[in-house]
Amino acid sequence: MKWLLSAGVAAALVLQPALAEDFFGEHPLTPRARDAFVSDLLKKMTVDEKIGQLRLITVGPDNPKEAIRDMIEKGQVGAIFNTVTRPDIRAMQDQVMSLSRLKIPLFFAFDVIHGQRTVFPISLGLASTFNPETVRVAGRISAYEAADDGLNMTWAPMVDISRDPRWGRVSEGFGEDTYLTSIMGRAMVESMQGKSPADRYSVMTSVKHYAAYGAVEGGKEYNTVDMSPQRLFNDYMPPYKAALDAGSGAVMVGLNSLNGTPASANPWLLKDILRKRWGFTGITVSDHGAIKELINHGVAKDPKDAVRVALTSGINMSMSDEYYSKYLPGLIKSGDVSMAELDDAARHVLNVKYDMGLFNDPYRHLGPKQSDPENTFAESRLHREEARSVARESLVLLKNRLHTLPLKKNGTIAVIGPLADSQRDMMGSWSGAGVIAQTVTVLQGIRNVAGDSAKIIYAKGANVSNHKGIVDFLNLYEKAIQVDSRPAQTMIDEAVAAARGADVVVAVVGEAQGMAHEASSRTSIGIPQSQRDLIKALKATGKPLVLVLMNGRPLSLVEENSQADALLETWFAGTEGGNAIADVLFGDYNPSGKLPVSFPRSVGQIPVYYSHLNTGRPYNPEHPNKYTSRYFDEANGPLYPFGYGLSYTTFSVSDVTLSAPTLRRGASLTASVTVSNTGDRPGATAVQLYLQDVTASMSRPVKMLRAFKKVTLAPGASQTVRFPIDENALKFWNAQMKYAAEPGAFNVFIGLDSARVKQASFTLQ
Ligand code: NOJ
Repeated sequence: MKWLLSAGVAAALVLQPALAEDFFGEHPLTPRARDAFVSDLLKKMTVDEKIGQLRLITVGPDNPKEAIRDMIEKGQVGAIFNTVTRPDIRAMQDQVMSLSRLKIPLFFAFDVIHGQRTVFPISLGLASTFNPETVRVAGRISAYEAADDGLNMTWAPMVDISRDPRWGRVSEGFGEDTYLTSIMGRAMVESMQGKSPADRYSVMTSVKHYAAYGAVEGGKEYNTVDMSPQRLFNDYMPPYKAALDAGSGAVMVGLNSLNGTPASANPWLLKDILRKRWGFTGITVSDHGAIKELINHGVAKDPKDAVRVALTSGINMSMSDEYYSKYLPGLIKSGDVSMAELDDAARHVLNVKYDMGLFNDPYRHLGPKQSDPENTFAESRLHREEARSVARESLVLLKNRLHTLPLKKNGTIAVIGPLADSQRDMMGSWSGAGVIAQTVTVLQGIRNVAGDSAKIIYAKGANVSNHKGIVDFLNLYEKAIQVDSRPAQTMIDEAVAAARGADVVVAVVGEAQGMAHEASSRTSIGIPQSQRDLIKALKATGKPLVLVLMNGRPLSLVEENSQADALLETWFAGTEGGNAIADVLFGDYNPSGKLPVSFPRSVGQIPVYYSHLNTGRPYNPEHPNKYTSRYFDEANGPLYPFGYGLSYTTFSVSDVTLSAPTLRRGASLTASVTVSNTGDRPGATAVQLYLQDVTASMSRPVKMLRAFKKVTLAPGASQTVRFPIDENALKFWNAQMKYAAEPGAFNVFIGLDSARVKQASFTLQ
């Protein structure tokens, strides 16, 4: 027997020899060996045991440890989520091995979205690096730390395209663009799963939230999605497909409905597309409570019906409700759910357990008990260096008037703002296994990096918000934000006094962690009023004003853009966020991040995304015409476009050269530009290639990102960047839902953001 049991259980365990022989040992990790093993195992299982495999639960008030022990003994649970320490995980796996009849290992899952013990920048920040290699570093370390905690699966990557910043979950994804999200999602899957999810330090990924959850109406959480098949397949589906092509073992199903059918009740999504068309062989998992919610959606009349609908639609595992266990036995008995359907769902669960190597060694990610870390939260378990370097690359310089940045490491710096010294907020959403006290704030980072040569004065200046409803919302489950009870004006006066005594003001403002999360949709996307009052007062001091933004969605920043001398977008930058931000503020690192989302000027403009279709009456800012597609009461277009971000140096981009004027099918052509560093310090920038299908059978976007490359250049240096283009880059789902590239003219745009580009054209024959 290959696996090791923890002391105590090993002694108590009496494995039936035949079972042990069949079961644990060297099972080759091939689909063929797996299918044979699982078929054999299914034959030994009772209906209840099969149903048990479909149940995914969390330990908590609804399921206390004793109740779970009982369920494990009876084979009524297939996997656990939200348990994140080796001793706790080991205790449950030990129970399986000692108490259950078939000893089918549990798998353990958690939301490891942008880090486990070490917290990396939120996914929007990761996307801002425009560097998949950097995202792989974050993915690899996250998986390493998760596996080192005993976990087998992560509920990541989240690749929902979202073009509505009112939605709080924009923070969890890689932004508005299909191509960028696909690349980053793939990088996450490959780096987290490694060569195999069965490897000691890999975890299986679960791409989410299938499908199109990011397009909820009005950005309102858990809402309705309705869209054309062309938009669905051209814009929203490719990232899920890319993650699956990269080998993601699981799919989490969205809580939304799509064209009237909830995703969890949608056999077209879960069977026809996912399995038949895309050939997916892993598991589908419903999102939290989604099966119960089918009743509210109005597609199931009662709990039993909800279970029938979900299972027969293709939901294999049910997250966090007891419905499958309660109602499936009766449904099987009555024949409303067939044994074949139950077997199919159970088979998928067993398959992924096999793929995770759990039948070779149920303690695969646990090792012997003696190897457990003495302290789960030990500093030595963190990967600070990597966190700092990833975070630096995620920062986006939005404005830098008169070289306000970088700051000098001398004189007096006033560090102001409710987020300047907030460890919790720096971690961002879904950072549950990170330790707040281990996180570096901007204030700490500035002190670390500036050392003793600069004088740092700090004042909070304002609360995140003074709006009681918002504060109550944020503090609903725990004290997430500390409200200073002093009058707002007193706090502002203190900050203004600090600013007056300083050479420069660094104000750290934006959203609290809880404002950009699940269930945190907003109707306004501005900085809260309390902080805007503070910014106004700081501006009035006349001191150079640097705004460091912390937020998990594009914000409307028209006013702040005019007030600030410099603006640095830092998202929620994670454990080493403060140090990374200080590295950029003082110029020890030259920023190179680019926006993965357009920043609207106001809520009224939403949706604002660069890859929109043209209209019959496009707006032309150089010749504004009344009867064009525009708003008359505000400047049109985003405040900051997709792909935008400055550097402390400057770059120039040459005209675009094409290797040929025409592209033949099956061949490729190359588009190239020469990028030069025209400034006086080394720097990096992401060169971006966009395509436009000028005339097609359907209107096509004015631009679509199809390639990007990050280049690092010394001052005065140049590099030619070449992008191959082939027919695949031109394909789209047309009105007949045929995926093809149509002959005709194409524009190629290359630039350092989506708005300022050089153009060339070719023809597809
Ligand atoms: C609900 C969220 O929608 C999903 O993203 C998450 O993975 C699960 N809860 C588990 O925490």
